[in-house]
Amino acid sequence: MTLDPIVTHEAFKEFERDRFSDVAQGYDRAIAVVTSQVNEAILDAVGAKCGLRLLDVACGTGWLSAAAVKREAIVTGLDFAENMVAIARVRCPKAQFHNGDAENLPFQSSQFDAVVCSLGILHFPNPERALAESFRVLKPGGRYALTCWTPPTRNPFMALILGSVQTYGSTDVNLPPGPPLFRFGNPTECTRFLSAEGFTEVSVAELPMKWTFSTPEDVMPTVVVSTARLGPMLAMQTDEQRRNIENAIIKGASEYATDRGVEIPASVMLAVARKP
Ligand SMILES: C[S@@+](CC[C@H](N)C(=O)[O-])C[C@H]1O[C@@H](n2cnc3c(N)ncnc32)[C@H](O)[C@@H]1O
Repeated sequence: MTLDPIVTHEAFKEFERDRFSDVAQGYDRAIAVVTSQVNEAILDAVGAKCGLRLLDVACGTGWLSAAAVKREAIVTGLDFAENMVAIARVRCPKAQFHNGDAENLPFQSSQFDAVVCSLGILHFPNPERALAESFRVLKPGGRYALTCWTPPTRNPFMALILGSVQTYGSTDVNLPPGPPLFRFGNPTECTRFLSAEGFTEVSVAELPMKWTFSTPEDVMPTVVVSTARLGPMLAMQTDEQRRNIENAIIKGASEYATDRGVEIPASVMLAVARKP
């Protein structure tokens, strides 16, 4: 039986909304420190400065919004996971935060000078609709920037986690089907996606970042309690598969041991464009 795409989209959204709310604190501790490594590059790309009206779509726990407030931009953040927004409000009292859906923005057209979306686009079941919404609320001449994980071939962290699952377990677990994780980590596809919506001056660049853990043993437990899809995927393996996957992750992570702990390289694709 083929499921109606609207039904599967709603099931996926409900799963993600609940899951991100459940892991909000873990996300803030373990992942936002990683994703925020590219925040200044994103803000530079959209020219964030004093007085710029900036919308942060899928703002999570508010680190990018906070960095924009530091530049004295007038910041609005939006995310559909209640607990993410609650943390963002505490982190960044000078920004305005909304609990809402990126695919249906509660804002008037042409309201913002810039729209940013860091590591959100890969979570939207209908990214075309989310992009159209961001385009709509952006003023003509305004800049848009998104980031997305690069695929395992260029991303040792993703290669380690997903490669270990593929070798010793199964990625085919009982989770609501979601959009592809790495679609927009492909520069050609990312450029096509933005151009198809009507954006011009599209440019893409790969930015390095790194995941830091105290020990190789910390990697899998951290991923399990702080990520939306990887965590449940790891938790849903059989006991034996989980043991084998964990051993593989520990072994792989040990190769990245340094004096400062375990530092596993990763990267994101940053895409920037202008609304004509
Ligand atoms: C990987 S996190 C990125 C958070 C933040 N931008 C960062 O860089 O750390 C993805 C965020 O997207 C949010 N999200 C996923 N789907 C969404 C949707 N349809 N509308 C609004 N937020 C959504 C999640 O709640 C989560 O906070």
